[in-house]
Amino acid sequence: MSISEAVNSKDTFLKSIDERLQIQRLFAATRMVASAPGSDVVKGLTQSPKSLPAYYFYDDRGSELFEQICELPEYYLTRTETAILQECAGEIAKITGACELVELGSGSSTKTRILLDAYQELGYPLRYLPIDVSAGMLESSARQLLQDYPQLQVYALAGTYELALAQLPPTHSPTRMIGFIGSSLGNLNRQECEIFFSQITNALQVGEYFLLGIDLHKPKQILEPAYDDSQGVTAAFNLNMLEHLNRRFDGDFDKTEFEHWAFYNESERQIEMHLKSKRSQTVQLKSLNLSVNFAAGETIHTEISRKFDLDIIQQQLATQGLVTIQTWTDSNQWFGLLLCQLQR
Ligand code: AVI
Repeated sequence: MSISEAVNSKDTFLKSIDERLQIQRLFAATRMVASAPGSDVVKGLTQSPKSLPAYYFYDDRGSELFEQICELPEYYLTRTETAILQECAGEIAKITGACELVELGSGSSTKTRILLDAYQELGYPLRYLPIDVSAGMLESSARQLLQDYPQLQVYALAGTYELALAQLPPTHSPTRMIGFIGSSLGNLNRQECEIFFSQITNALQVGEYFLLGIDLHKPKQILEPAYDDSQGVTAAFNLNMLEHLNRRFDGDFDKTEFEHWAFYNESERQIEMHLKSKRSQTVQLKSLNLSVNFAAGETIHTEISRKFDLDIIQQQLATQGLVTIQTWTDSNQWFGLLLCQLQR
């Protein structure tokens, strides 16, 4: 660490939590592009087959249920990625050097601590830019981190990935790493994935880093229980979307009249989650002026969770200038962590 960095971090150490925390709420530059609230619900429920955008999972209850999913014995993703991170965080910090950490979909920032510890151990100044749509969640997890890391500075961005990546503030460190862990990439379809990678590329300078955590393809005997657990937590998470819609759009979905259905689509290499109507029924969403008929057994597609192949994803990243410089997996090769560098 240089003398100026040492002085810097000593100064930071003396600052209060409020002095080390900045929160920026992001809004689209023009209102013209934003569509009317609920128009995606109307579109999804009036087409065939029916579908709903996965972001409606995440009201407060949904976020709580997702935290519970991460602890389930069948949901190997979180603990496998955590174990990989624990193994390789020191190596990542050595490769990138002093680095500002941007995290997309930071949530409770639990796994981030492993990286912060590694950078702290090497004596680097710590600046963290979490990005999440939930401003409340951002603030509470940032305050917790600031309490535990007295040298940390947090610049939180509340908004969508798209807005945040387009409006990142100037870097304070020699380099920057954008982290997208937890295999959230799997919830984007192929086209959304391409667009997302180009947003990452545009947000980085040549030489800067992208850290990506992805769930890998594996037998469906392991995959399906992870999305249809024995305690019914994933079922509750899926069905909670209906309650969320009821609250937001004055609806009368009866979630006991639907059931959770999840399976691995081998040819598409993706888990698909659906809600299946137990009988023929009509549901109203009054504030959207919408009445929806369901036949018995008809489904609403709520989520895809794609499972990746390390070689293929590396090629896809490379076409966008994101060159993989190191990969790590667990001994079962269930999960992969890729450190990429923008090289063009
Ligand atoms: C957030 N995302 C990575 C989870 C996944 O595994 O695709 C969401 C989830 N859906 C059901 N269980 C977990």
